[in-house]
Amino acid sequence: MIPFLWGAATSHHQVEGGAPSSIEPSDWSDWTRDPEHTADRTNAEHACGWWLGRAEEDLTLARSLGHNAHRMGISWARLEPVPGQCDAHAFARYEAILLHARRLGLHTNVTLHHFTLPRWVAARGGFERDESADRFARFAAHAVARLGGLVTHWATFNEPSVYAMMSFGGREWPPGKGSPIVQFRVLARLLRAHAAAVKAIRRAVPDTSVGIVLNAPAFDPDRPERRRDRAVAFAQDHAFTGCVLDALKTGRLRLPLAPVSVDAPGLRESFDWLGLNYYGRYRVRFDPRVPALLCGRHVQKNTIRHGDVDWGEPHPEGLTRLLLRFSALGKPVFVTENGVYDPTDELRQRYLADHVRAVNVARERGADGRGYFHWSLLDNFEWAEGFTTPFGLVEVDRTTGERRPRASAFLYQRLIAAGQ
Ligand code: FCB
Repeated sequence: MIPFLWGAATSHHQVEGGAPSSIEPSDWSDWTRDPEHTADRTNAEHACGWWLGRAEEDLTLARSLGHNAHRMGISWARLEPVPGQCDAHAFARYEAILLHARRLGLHTNVTLHHFTLPRWVAARGGFERDESADRFARFAAHAVARLGGLVTHWATFNEPSVYAMMSFGGREWPPGKGSPIVQFRVLARLLRAHAAAVKAIRRAVPDTSVGIVLNAPAFDPDRPERRRDRAVAFAQDHAFTGCVLDALKTGRLRLPLAPVSVDAPGLRESFDWLGLNYYGRYRVRFDPRVPALLCGRHVQKNTIRHGDVDWGEPHPEGLTRLLLRFSALGKPVFVTENGVYDPTDELRQRYLADHVRAVNVARERGADGRGYFHWSLLDNFEWAEGFTTPFGLVEVDRTTGERRPRASAFLYQRLIAAGQ
């Protein structure tokens, strides 16, 4: 019997780092060789040192802070650096990390795709090409067969809607396509790849628990009495979250901006659990001058923003609502990310307590919530924001690498003790 899981989340590229010779051989490592691609002109090389040995001590620290689980990613690029050939050293490194977690008594939730691609997959067009679904499925089944004994829950993709938007709709992340049409085509391919991977995983290791992690903000009309605000809030929710949830429910993906619906029957029943990444709420106001945002401008006041990235305003009720909505699909739900960047840690403490409470409220109202993973365990490499937005329960000194648990880390320890 698996208890309610309390932990934090990381992803491989954001914490692993490595010397130039041992950095992840991925599209992200190539993209960030151009310093213009990150806010502080950094790249992930000097992240948290997990690849070269620090994962173990950080997991030990998480355990000492009361966590009973950890969410992490493994790198397709490291594990299959050339087509069809696995890297034994990379498998051994992940095995060591997962074994350490197991010995500590941490359950693991492991993601197979968290935004990065092997160079060879990126060079062949990544998820713009249909073949990638089979390539990913083959990798996924192999990884689960090799490492599955050490893992409690597997996830195929992290946040397909965010990945499609940032990498293909926008120009912020590789390959920087900048085309909303391509964005939705890629989203369809990601969901097909998810279905293909789940099928391959279940064939290889029948009793695996496998799910998918979705990012779902709360989209609320700024002026609920106005029909147009309601319509654009609904449209944004549908384009980002609703169409994916519908596709998982019905096997049919009805895409915004494309007059077609795609049949992907394998999507139905393609998950044993759902992951919900929740950061905040957007208040949406009708404005015909922002067609790229489906004519809905975001006007919330106390929003958490850095440069072009806007995580929305803290709104714990939104988490309760979304947990209930995800739960309605009939499978267990985990909050797989929730957090706030805050170097002062003042906002984070309130945010954390409010959102843990929101999870409890959702469970009292009948949501099948099975765990909460705070984003993140450590300050890490935040994609195009570089190291400018510290999300960690534990502060990482960028010069010495020293770890300093913030007050939030101890608050979380108390909340976990009370929850258990
Ligand atoms: C999520 C990503 C995660 C991190 C947080 C802040 O969208 O999954 O890697 O960037 O946001």
